[in-house]
Amino acid sequence: MKQWTREERYRLLLDAEEIRPLHGRILRSEYRQTYHIQPVTGLLNDPNGFIFHNGRWHLFYQWCPWGAVHGLKYWYHTSSDDLIHWKNLGACIRPDSDFDNKGAYSGSALPVDGSIYLYYTGNHRDEDWTRKSYTCLAVIDENGRLKKKDEPLFGPNEDYTEHQRDPKIIYRKNEGKYLIMIGAQTKDRHGCVIFYESDYPDRDWHFRGQLNVPGFESFGDMWECPSVEQIAGKDVLIFCPQHLSLPGRGNDHNHNGYLIGRMDWETLTFTPEGSFHVLDFGFDSYAAECASNIEPYNLINTGNRSGDDKAVIVAWMGLPDSAYPTDDEEWQGCLTLPRELTVHNRRLIQKPLDILDGLRDEPADVSRGVIPDACEMIVRVRDGDLNLNLFTQPDGSGGFRIIYDSASKEFTVDRSQMKTRFNESFGEQRTRVLEESLSELRIFIDRSSVEIFVNDGEAVMTSRVFPQADEHGFTYEGNAAIRIWSLKHAMHEDFVI
Ligand code: FRU
Repeated sequence: MKQWTREERYRLLLDAEEIRPLHGRILRSEYRQTYHIQPVTGLLNDPNGFIFHNGRWHLFYQWCPWGAVHGLKYWYHTSSDDLIHWKNLGACIRPDSDFDNKGAYSGSALPVDGSIYLYYTGNHRDEDWTRKSYTCLAVIDENGRLKKKDEPLFGPNEDYTEHQRDPKIIYRKNEGKYLIMIGAQTKDRHGCVIFYESDYPDRDWHFRGQLNVPGFESFGDMWECPSVEQIAGKDVLIFCPQHLSLPGRGNDHNHNGYLIGRMDWETLTFTPEGSFHVLDFGFDSYAAECASNIEPYNLINTGNRSGDDKAVIVAWMGLPDSAYPTDDEEWQGCLTLPRELTVHNRRLIQKPLDILDGLRDEPADVSRGVIPDACEMIVRVRDGDLNLNLFTQPDGSGGFRIIYDSASKEFTVDRSQMKTRFNESFGEQRTRVLEESLSELRIFIDRSSVEIFVNDGEAVMTSRVFPQADEHGFTYEGNAAIRIWSLKHAMHEDFVI
């Protein structure tokens, strides 16, 4: 068999000219977003390696270049100086080695001296299709050049099943230790997190142990994308327990949630101080990633400067094992807006970044009852119930329904009345009982998504939505005042491979 050099293999794998026509075609899609990160071609899933480095934000995503399929995954690189305007920088980690022959899977980033270290899972399959996960390193040097380390940092752990992935790198400054946490599955098929440790970011890694999470020993069969963040004096364990059914989540068994508690790094014990909460109460949100290791001053250019210990979080606006209407156009997926994360009353609070106000263009005439292409809708609710229907048909029927019942404090979104329905089997309604009465909604609408921030971040509901040409009205009933701002475009569509 011919042995390909890495260069030959790369050319074989990804030919920019082959996918250029795809890019041209998807630009004509009426569902292309105007201020959300979306795939240059093909499919986007998890955000990866979210980091602030040398005055810029870097955010990568899982990318399958050729179409709306979860095929061979790359890391695609985007960058921004304000978290709003993003530039396409091209393919970054390519699955061109034996240890990542079936994809460069998710991971995280760490600044080391002038470079960015990217830790990722090399998804490998043997010829007999046995899967092996390797934890790998790629370095972007000061000049922006990427070099993959020739050998993985470490291979699969034989004491766990083949499901081991999504390294999150943590630098414990006081102890001078590097830790990598990995989502895994025990041999008796329970989700867990395992830790590796080293004195160096790029060598001498050894197994440190499994994370104890009292009360959560049997909670889903695999934990994807785990991380521990320090926010407002609390430790927060964020992860995606798979194949778990949770009340109020329909048949959707993909959850991205968190526990607030205390992390003991010595004994590797996370003691929860409450129950598991989902991060987002809408339909399409998974594999969230926090920009970690950020100092408060790094938030200056986002406007959200005040307090300390804040994080910025971004998620995939999509779900595993799902089909979306744009699959027919050969692309799928986008990311959520980056959101500021704080803790209040043992809950995570997610708010839009202040800098988003800078995207506001013209105020829209609310009395026309028409939703602009891309807009922010601010709804101040004085009291009582609310019925707000977005994307209604000209006669006021149909729509994406937002319903608040003041007696029960139930806040519901329902997308079953839209003409284009998808993922119905996961359930088309989501309800959250609010802690406070509904007072305010900030709704960010792009061409194919709705993100609803309830009561200054108490709850967030994120949904893809694919309105047809005659679904652009809105109606409402309730004691509320509505303002709408059209938003400027912020996402560059440059074809950079
Ligand atoms: C989560 C996930 C990760 C994996 C990646 C592959 O959506 O399944 O566990 O690394 O996607 O694209």
